[in-house]
Amino acid sequence: MPLARSVSNVVLFEVAWEVANKVGGIYTVLQTKARVTADEWGESYVLVGPYVESAVRTQVELLEPPQPALRRTLAAMNAQGCKVGVPEGFGVSLVAFEVVLGRSGEAWVPWYDREANDAVLFGFLVAWFLGEFAAQSEERPFIVGHFHEWLAGLGLVLSRARRLPVATIFTTHATLLGRYLCAGSVDFYNNLHSFDVDKEAGERQIYHRYCLERAAAHCAHVLTTVSHVTAAEAEHLLKRKPDLVTPNGLNVRKFSAMHEFQNLHAQSKARVQEFVRGHFYGHLDFDLDKTLFFFIAGRYEFSNKGADIFLEALARLNYLLRVNGSEVTVVAFFIMPARTNNFNVESLKGQAVRKQLWDTANAVKEKFGKKLYESLLVGNLPDMNKMLDREDFTMMKRAIFATQIIFHPEFLSSTSPLLPVDYEEFVRGCHLGVFPSYYEPWGYTPAECTVMGIPSVSTNLSGFGCFMEEHIADPSAYGIYIVDRRFRAPEEWCAQLTAFLYGFCQQSRRQRIVQRNRTERLSDLLDWKYLGRYYTFARRMALAKAFPESFTYEPPEAAAGFRYPRPASVPPSPALSRLSSPRHSDDEDERYDEEEEAAKDRANIRRPPSPPGLPPTRN
Ligand code: UDP
Ligand code: G6P
Ligand code: GLC
Repeated sequence: MPLARSVSNVVLFEVAWEVANKVGGIYTVLQTKARVTADEWGESYVLVGPYVESAVRTQVELLEPPQPALRRTLAAMNAQGCKVGVPEGFGVSLVAFEVVLGRSGEAWVPWYDREANDAVLFGFLVAWFLGEFAAQSEERPFIVGHFHEWLAGLGLVLSRARRLPVATIFTTHATLLGRYLCAGSVDFYNNLHSFDVDKEAGERQIYHRYCLERAAAHCAHVLTTVSHVTAAEAEHLLKRKPDLVTPNGLNVRKFSAMHEFQNLHAQSKARVQEFVRGHFYGHLDFDLDKTLFFFIAGRYEFSNKGADIFLEALARLNYLLRVNGSEVTVVAFFIMPARTNNFNVESLKGQAVRKQLWDTANAVKEKFGKKLYESLLVGNLPDMNKMLDREDFTMMKRAIFATQIIFHPEFLSSTSPLLPVDYEEFVRGCHLGVFPSYYEPWGYTPAECTVMGIPSVSTNLSGFGCFMEEHIADPSAYGIYIVDRRFRAPEEWCAQLTAFLYGFCQQSRRQRIVQRNRTERLSDLLDWKYLGRYYTFARRMALAKAFPESFTYEPPEAAAGFRYPRPASVPPSPALSRLSSPRHSDDEDERYDEEEEAAKDRANIRRPPSPPGLPPTRN
């Protein structure tokens, strides 16, 4: 699907607040996608982000940009007092602006909202930059401006308002209202079509942010989002249906030796075991060889990320393991950066546990008060024996049990004083990632587990979970457990999650090894080499809409969906497949032939076709 005629001077600027500035998953999108985009666009691909001193110092170095027009643009802006540079990063040119004021001079947004003020300043700088670049180019450039998320949205709006020669794309990785509404106690998905969006945004004091987001979504030539879940959300909350879904990919690392990732698991697990030994020093009364490591990781959005149901399921799992006399011990890690005032991780851990106990005490107190009130209302003194029921005791026991969970209130790094491993090494060393999110437009964490060959739990409310359900006939057979949080009641989600966790604990070592092999085999599905095509389509669509005289666009052939079939080695009847786990065998059962199984599965997997490439472009 080539461009209609040979057009030169096409350049791509990708703009986001998380360029070389790690906040969450948007950083991962840009960082991992850089290589395939640079392969396609060469020097005509430039990333644009804020100049965050700490990030720039650690991740990038300042460079002289190779493109003459870019050099002139930066010189012109710097001559007017702006601080713009090209740090080296992600392997492509990267323009960074210093956003120093933290407050825009005009009353666009309330003074106290630092983030929104930064977004406004950033937007003006980006629009200035794009206008300057067009003016400094020797021949008229065709610019593609790809803006990510509301924080970068104003640059897009101003590019349109100033009629710059920019084909604009807005990719939303979540909606502001979605995130806020879900974090409250709202039945979000059943009421999506009926929210009074202005009122909801106003009540949450984010009306100004919402306006920036909605304006960007409407001004863009092409609107995309990361999953169908978020597409529906955008349609109802931003009032525009996305033109395209652009699923998130990863750089898949292929090892020359097939099972190298299994060796890495064993090595990294030794590091995690070492930490656990230290953590439980003096009271390590369980066998580390029979211990499984589960973890949840992500920003500290307790219910959006499903940390609440994970805790509840752990309590139930604990019960099941005990009553069934299991020898397995589960250590659960919560890797979530919480707001901290200092780096005393031990005391923070204590605080987190204390808060949990406090919340439980309050919940019990409230129930107690209600019963007391009801009894007094009918003129009786309360029967003290009935004031606390079994449920209250269970709740309190759970809170006490939860104190054995390891809470790490920071993202991991090899320099962390508590658990000095980087995130990748930690994930490889664990057995199961648990991400039962309620609000998750995509969810990189389970995707990252998959490409490292680590099974994971996600939900059918997350973009990743839906994507895997769409492409794999029997996801749990591949170690992709998807909790149904869409059609079931809370009690049922929890029961299903507990069943997944308990089923996982019942597997033998051999079965876990086989399952990891299967999980890792899904990597191709998440590779940018394949998923990058959706971005290619989006750019072509935007160019054709913005410059119809020079570009044409043909909608892609109805993306012939492909599905990974049920693994060849799993019996067809669910009754026989025992929770779809790999065939049962003991640790010592070497008759089982992994290579043979892999070959059978591979023969069944329809490989995704290779993505079409754009003709090389230059500035
Ligand atoms: N992450 C990390 N270090 C950690 C925990 C998480 O770098 O200790 C990264 C993880 O690799 C992932 C990102 O944080 O790429 C979280 O992205 P996700 O899409 O799951 O959620 P978001 O935070 O964007 O909502
Ligand atoms: C990898 C290694 C094996 C090791 C196993 C442990 O597969 O190659 O040598 O026995 O991990 O698996 P587990 O699930 O018990 O951590
Ligand atoms: C957002 C979403 C997350 C997604 C990420 C990258 O931060 O919360 O689900 O994976 O963006 O698209």
